[in-house]
Amino acid sequence: MSAASGLAAAQARDAADPLRAFRARFALPCDARGEPLLYLCGHSLGLMPLAARDVVNEELEDWSRLAVLGHEHGRRAWIPYHEHLTAGLADLTGAGADEVVAMNSLTVNLHLMLASFYRPHGRRTRILIEAGAFSSDRHAVTSQIAWRGLDPESTLIELAPPPGMDTVPEEEIEACLAHHDGEIALVLWPGVQFRTGQAFDLARIARAAHQRGCIAGFDLAHSIGNLPLAMHASDADFAVWCSYKYLNGGPGAIGGCFVHRRHSEAQSRIRHAGALPGARLAGWWSHEEPTRFLMEPQFRAAGGAAGWQISNPPILAAAPLIASLAIFTEAGITRLREKSVQLTDYLDGLIRALAPTVHILTPPDSGRRGCQLSLRIAGAGRGRRVFDALTARGVIGDWRTPDIIRVAPVPLYNGFEDAWRFARALTEVLEDTQ
Ligand SMILES: Cc1ncc(COP(=O)(O)O)c(C=O)c1O
Repeated sequence: MSAASGLAAAQARDAADPLRAFRARFALPCDARGEPLLYLCGHSLGLMPLAARDVVNEELEDWSRLAVLGHEHGRRAWIPYHEHLTAGLADLTGAGADEVVAMNSLTVNLHLMLASFYRPHGRRTRILIEAGAFSSDRHAVTSQIAWRGLDPESTLIELAPPPGMDTVPEEEIEACLAHHDGEIALVLWPGVQFRTGQAFDLARIARAAHQRGCIAGFDLAHSIGNLPLAMHASDADFAVWCSYKYLNGGPGAIGGCFVHRRHSEAQSRIRHAGALPGARLAGWWSHEEPTRFLMEPQFRAAGGAAGWQISNPPILAAAPLIASLAIFTEAGITRLREKSVQLTDYLDGLIRALAPTVHILTPPDSGRRGCQLSLRIAGAGRGRRVFDALTARGVIGDWRTPDIIRVAPVPLYNGFEDAWRFARALTEVLEDTQ
């Protein structure tokens, strides 16, 4: 196919895309000369919904107009502000409204969840994570192990892909759990692995963990807003996420947390229980709203996952997410996923033509990945040169050491033409970069 007909075919697919109008609802970044960038980096920082500006401005106006009265009389009262996010987050995570809460940021939430659910006792002290886990998750886990007086090196289990493979089949996780039967207290696993883009069967992992007596917790940083999720049905114990990637909540946006209903229901509402899995650390925002401002010493927990909050919510870090979740509700995660599968399959097909120079680490089966493709370029040091050359041409993906280029066509604001232009740029850059 000639370049012109390839481009025309991609444009025709965009023209037939029922979700194409959503692109205009986002701020598309430009270079210093005002030329549009080819943005394929929603797996790192999602684009700004134009409506986010209005919601943030409304909060600033309410602050200037009402000051402290905004807590109760703002157009979106600040005291229960997180509740504006609950329905959208419950929908995207496949959870009950009582099982999710927007709060803090991802690693802080992970620490809070580990404080509640990592209960080493007897032989059962170990935590299982994937080898090459995101550094912040590994730091959280190893520091939690050390904080309990245990040795992180001998307590942490890091499961690597089998020799010759880039990804970890679920049966390897099951085999690892069987091999370490009785030793593992908690499994922390990603919904989508940040480096490879592999998506996991979380229900299967939770089932395997529970069969071996372990708690199952998930990091949804690269999954939420990318794939439909079913946290409640998967029977996960807890999950955490950030909102600045596929959720388009803005840099440093408020994160979130899922706690399965069976844990919130098992907790006493009127005292701090100690030993149970799920016992939580508290602050005034874990206290139920009706009696919070009586400021009494007596604790009364808020119901559900809201009882894991500690501090009052950061309004300006939550406001853009209100605008973004409204877009998700309108577009629907099922329709977004349908487009996403087509878009990433299309990009995959274009890039596979560049093998063996370009190797795609991400599984080829769309059921085992989200938007993202992770690419490795053959030749010592060539990957970095290719990445830099792409960046110089206005292509925004990202680089993960030691040798991976990540790109993600995001169905809300990317199209088939973007995928085609990326493959074209990569082909040309490879010709120039030996
Ligand atoms: C998989 C994963 N875990 C943890 C984090 C850290 O998130 P935060 O800085 O919001 O705690 C990130 C951030 O990109 C991530 O991708």
